[in-house]
This record gives sequence, C-alpha cells and structure tokens, in this order.
Amino acid sequence: MSQKNQTLGEFIIENQSSFKYTSGELSRLINSIRLAAKVVNHEVNKAGLVDIIGNYGETNVQGEDQQKLDVYANDKFIQTLTNRNIVCGIASEEEDDFISINSQDENNQNKYIVLIDPLDGSTNIDVNVSVGTIFSVYRRVTPVGTPVTIKDFLQKGSQQVAAGYIIYGTSTMLVYTTGHGVNGFTLNPAMGTFYLSHPDMTFPDEGKIYSVNEGNYVHFPQGIKNYIKYCQMEEGDRPYTSRYIGSLVSDFHRNMIKGGIYLYPTTSKDPNGKLRLLYECNPMAFLAEQANGKASDGFRRIMEVEPTELHQRVPFICGSKNMVEKAEEFMQSL
Ligand code: AHG
Ligand code: MN
Ligand code: MN
Repeated sequence: MSQKNQTLGEFIIENQSSFKYTSGELSRLINSIRLAAKVVNHEVNKAGLVDIIGNYGETNVQGEDQQKLDVYANDKFIQTLTNRNIVCGIASEEEDDFISINSQDENNQNKYIVLIDPLDGSTNIDVNVSVGTIFSVYRRVTPVGTPVTIKDFLQKGSQQVAAGYIIYGTSTMLVYTTGHGVNGFTLNPAMGTFYLSHPDMTFPDEGKIYSVNEGNYVHFPQGIKNYIKYCQMEEGDRPYTSRYIGSLVSDFHRNMIKGGIYLYPTTSKDPNGKLRLLYECNPMAFLAEQANGKASDGFRRIMEVEPTELHQRVPFICGSKNMVEKAEEFMQSL
C-alpha cells in the first residue's frame, strides 16, 4: 500500500513480495537504476554550465551523432549495473552489440537482462528541454550461469518483467512498472531522494492531445494522414490540440497525465519507423498497458511483435486507449 511521504527505497522493499520471483534480485536492479538516475540527473542539470553539450564526434549504430551526455548516461547505467553484479547482460541503444557480464563466472547466478535507451530526446539537451532514460527488464531464457546469448535479448515485449523511464524535466521523476500498475516518484534534489508522488498512474480513456512530427506529414501512410485530419476536424470534442516535444519520454509522460496519443509512423525516409522496438517501444508499451493505455504499430499489439534484431525499428502509436483504437481503425480501413 502506498503511504504519504513514501520513498522509492521503501516502496521497493514493501512491494518486493508481489514480484513473481522473490529473490530480491529485481529489487536490487531497480535500486541500481535509481542510483544511476541520480548521477545522470546531476550531469543533465549541469549541461548548460559546462562544455559537455554538443556532438561527441562519434556516430552511433543508427548513424546518428552522439552527444556527450548520451555517452555519459550510457557509461553510467552500464557501470552501475555491471559493478554491482546485478544482471547477466545489458543491451543499449548506444552499443553495437549486447554486453555479457561475468560470462566466465559460473557463480554468476543473475537471472535478469536489461535493455536501455540511456538518453532519449538527446537533441533537446542543447536547448534546455526535457530528456529521459528508458529501461526494460527480462528474465534470461538461456540457462543461468552460462554466457547470455542474443536469444535472451530478442524476447517479445510481453515477456518483460519490469520497465520504466526517468524524465529529467522541471522535476526529475522515475516512473516504472513491474506488472502491477505504474507508479511515479519525484526526486527531491535537496535530499537526493525519490518520493512517491504519482501512485497508480493511468491514461484517461480519451484525450485531446496528439503528438506527432507533422514535418514528416507528406511521407506518412494514408491512414495516419486521415487520422491527423480527423484530430483537426471540428466535431464533438475536436479539434484536438497538438503537442510535440521530440522526446518520447516527455511526450508519453504528458499524454499519460493529460490524455493523448503519440505517433511515430513509417515515413519514406524511415520505412520501418524511427523508434527502436527493444529500447523504446516495448518498455513504453508495457507502461502504457499497465496504465490503462494501449500501444500498437497500427495493426498489432507492440508487445506481440517478434524481435529479429537488437536495433530493430517499428512504427509506434501509443497512448489513451480510445485514441489508439481510432488511429488503428484509420490504418486498417484502407
Ligand atoms: P533518441 O534521442 O534516443 O535518439 O530518441 C529520439 C526519438 C524520440 O525520443 C523522439 O520522440 C523522436 O526520436 C523524435 O524524432 P523526430 O526528431 O524525427 O521527430
Ligand atoms: Mn530514444
Ligand atoms: Mn537515445
């Protein structure tokens, strides 16, 4: 049960027994993410002060320029999870391949793997706009005590045991689920402590916000174009209003609180969409479903998409249930 002034640490301990497997391993994992989040938050807050912004001079595996903070956040999350010997494998949007941890050590009995987008919305750093971190946790499918393989990472989203995000916004929040609803914790920077501020977060069934990069409009599939026109039409509670931050975490967070839909469809430039199934779409889909929302590629439930490669991309429609269903209707009616 949530209580007033409950800290994230207390919440984790109190809810440990509701996890399917109660070895305490998942609690330790969430605790390490909490720790890394605080370190990255400190750095994100300083971004305007020190010469840490700008391109790092490298290109990531998706051919995009890496910003310094991408690299920093990537290193911090990997270091924290590795040093504390919490997981047996990690995959990151910023790494070409997955990382196997202590693969030679038969005593490594860790069961969990983590996938992360260490810094989401990284183009917003230079302009002081919210960014985030997204994480996703699975139980390995190969035997414990052996090196992890690609099979452990290419699991359907429906197999996730936990997922969440950190939003480095006007306040810093950690929002996560272990399959028992979604809870949000706000960092008190003076204390360095996350407090339960948003218990049982849910998307309203209906919303009035649509979030899409309309600059790509001419390249969208006809179903998406028709849905956008529907959003703009004057009828009933429409027109809806448009809000697009360009950071999935921030757009999702606002839509969950206010009611809305986020769309990143296929375009002629990105024929499979832009967002990554494993690092971005699956964790957000798990959170959305746990919060009374929905996530789809227009035709299928995101968490049922069979992954074939680590950096796979997928079209993504996510948010308030009735809005996602309406968008699917437009996609499927052609
Ligand atoms: P990342 O910074 O991890 O590469 O992710 C950016 C993603 C997502 O957060 C955002 O919603 C979307 O890309 C924005 O893309 P456009 O600039 O093409 O709209
Ligand atoms: Mn991202
Ligand atoms: Mn990223």
